[in-house]
Amino acid sequence: MPKVTFLLKDGSSQTVDSPENWSLMQIAKDHALEGIEGACGGSMACATCHCYIDPNWLARVEAEDNEQSEEERDILDGAFDIRDTSRLGCQVKVTNALDGLVVAMPGTETDW
Ligand code: FES
Repeated sequence: MPKVTFLLKDGSSQTVDSPENWSLMQIAKDHALEGIEGACGGSMACATCHCYIDPNWLARVEAEDNEQSEEERDILDGAFDIRDTSRLGCQVKVTNALDGLVVAMPGTETDW
């Protein structure tokens, strides 16, 4: 079962287990992590699942059939504090190959 570490806005972090192929949005909601709401349930209509992928993981995330679509980019344009590694959490599935993935919640201070 892959683990994902979420960096939270208050400066803390939480590492959680993820059933394989769950989305970052589903994982964050399942653990009631503050910062990801997932209001539309993953239908790419809200951007309340916005998060940042650690740049060290970005290529590996995309290699796991998680490439960003044009539609996702359009939705992200309406989100707050977009960065180079911004993604919609509902569009990133966590596979076993992504065990150890690091993700930051929107508004979290990082050096990336
Ligand atoms: Fe609404 Fe991801 S949950 S866009």
